[in-house]
Order: sequence, then structure tokens, then C-alpha cells
Amino acid sequence: MTSLSNNDAYTVGSKSFTAVAINTAAKAGEWIKSKVGGYNKLRQKSVANDLVTEVDKGAEALIRNLIQTHFPHHAFLGEEGVTPGPGAFVKALDNHKDSEYLWIVDPIDGTTNFVHGYPYFSVSIALAYKHEVIVGVVYDPVQDEMFVAEKGKGAYLTGRRMEVSAEEKLADSLLATGFPTDRSRALPLNMRCLQRIAPQTRNIRSSGSAALHLAYVAAGRLSGFWEYGLSVWDQAAGTLLVKESGGTVTDTKGAAYGLTVSDVVATNGHIHDSVLNELMQEEAAFHTEIQN
Ligand code: IPD
Ligand code: CA
Ligand code: CA
Repeated sequence: MTSLSNNDAYTVGSKSFTAVAINTAAKAGEWIKSKVGGYNKLRQKSVANDLVTEVDKGAEALIRNLIQTHFPHHAFLGEEGVTPGPGAFVKALDNHKDSEYLWIVDPIDGTTNFVHGYPYFSVSIALAYKHEVIVGVVYDPVQDEMFVAEKGKGAYLTGRRMEVSAEEKLADSLLATGFPTDRSRALPLNMRCLQRIAPQTRNIRSSGSAALHLAYVAAGRLSGFWEYGLSVWDQAAGTLLVKESGGTVTDTKGAAYGLTVSDVVATNGHIHDSVLNELMQEEAAFHTEIQN
């Protein structure tokens, strides 16, 4: 087991944190996959289109138990342990502001897909040390693809180092976005951004798992991804994957990614400014209109 008192340095080099994250994601993912089409309790969270099943809760309990078995002194922040509502994740992070090691978990990212049997969802597990993500694992149980990153050590898919894609222009890019559950601000704003950006790109995808979209940016399968209104558990692991694959992650105003960011842009780096520029222009127009 990893020593907790290694002066001030985190002990990623020991591989223990990452190994636990990988094994835990694999176990949870296998169980989730066995439950596709077999869940019993479908509930709505704070809004009608935000879903949760007993499989989300069971997977989170499994992940929590495994992580706490290995690291009983670490803090744990899982989506299903937080009372849903606008900005809930920021409050939850604040409750953990003094936690040195914090595991940030989305047991099923893509619950709507899971519920419909649409085979695109993931388990997302991140470990933050003093508010900075140092391990990120996103597991797609359907494709059996494990995306793994350690801060400063690169990002890997099935043992092969990942690199972001090379496109330099929007016109050559394949981007992805998400349609947020918040229909008052994030969704209408993003519909306008989509309308603005789509004609300038090769095409846009929206497959319903922010964590997996980020992993695809890291793997060079997507040139970039943006979404408004995400929570920390949707993106903590995926943002490290992108950074460690050579990409760039900021908020939609261009500020560096931090755990409290909700509106995120992650790209191969080359097209980052172009995406930001389009989003910022549309955001400004949107806010001017809603104020008048
Ligand atoms: C959702 C997915 C989806 C994104 C939503 C998220 P969940 O997470 O990441 O792609 O568009 O904003 O809430 O609810 O399936 O864990
Ligand atoms: Ca999620
Ligand atoms: Ca979830």
C-alpha cells in the first residue's frame, strides 16, 4: 500500500493509486455492463431529464468500498453522494477543501445511454492531490477500453501512449459537444454555439458521455470537445487524459482548468483558440440578448 507520509510529494510513481483506480474501474465497469437492460429502479434527479438507477448507486458503492479499502484516509466525492441541484458540485468541493487526497468519481457517465441500451457510457475515476488531478482513469466497458493518465507521466490506452490529433483548422476537425440537462441557460446557449460552429467543422458528434468524449480527444479520435454546465465528476479524469496526451484544457473563457470549472473546452491545442473565439462571441451575443 502507498505510504501517506512521503514528505510533501504525492506517490504516483509507486503506481498504487493508478493500479487501484484501474482495477476499480474495471470491476465497476464489468458489473455495469452486466446490468444493461436489467436495471429496476429508474428515478429522476432534480430535473426530469437527469436520470439515476440503482446501478449508478451500486457502482458508486462498489467503487467507494474498493478505494477506501486501499486508502482509508483519503476523501471521496462521488456524484451519487451529492444532493443534486445547480452548483451542487462546487458546494461538495468546498466541503472537501481541506482534503489532501480526494477521489472524484462518476460511477456511470452516460446514464441516459445506459438506460436506453445505447452503448456509450463510462466509469470515471480521478484522484486529486491538493486540488490538482494526478490520476485519471476513464473506462468504457462496452469496448473494454481503459484510458489512463498520471500527471507528468503521459496517458495510455491499453498500454499504448496516446497523443492528441494533428488538425490545425476547424475545417479539418471532428468535434464533440454535449446537450446539458440545464434547459434554462446551458442548453439554449449551447444550441446557438452548435449552430455557429458546426458549419465551420468537418462534423460534430454528441454521444452522451463527457468523460468518454474527453478520452477520445486524448486518443486523437476527436479534435476537440466543449460543454457547458458539467460537474467535476464528469471531467476531472478526462481533463488529465487530454493534458497528458498533449492537448489543452480551459474553461470557455480561456482560463486554466481547475476543479470548479463547469464550462469546459478541451482540444488538441492547435484549434483551441479558434474554438474559444467562436464560443466567446456566441456567449457574448447570448448574454446581451437575455439582458435586453
Ligand atoms: C452526463 C453526461 C452527458 C453530459 C451531461 C452529464 P451523467 O453525465 O456526461 O454527456 O451531456 O451534461 O450530466 O448524468 O450521465 O453522469
Ligand atoms: Ca456524468
Ligand atoms: Ca453519472
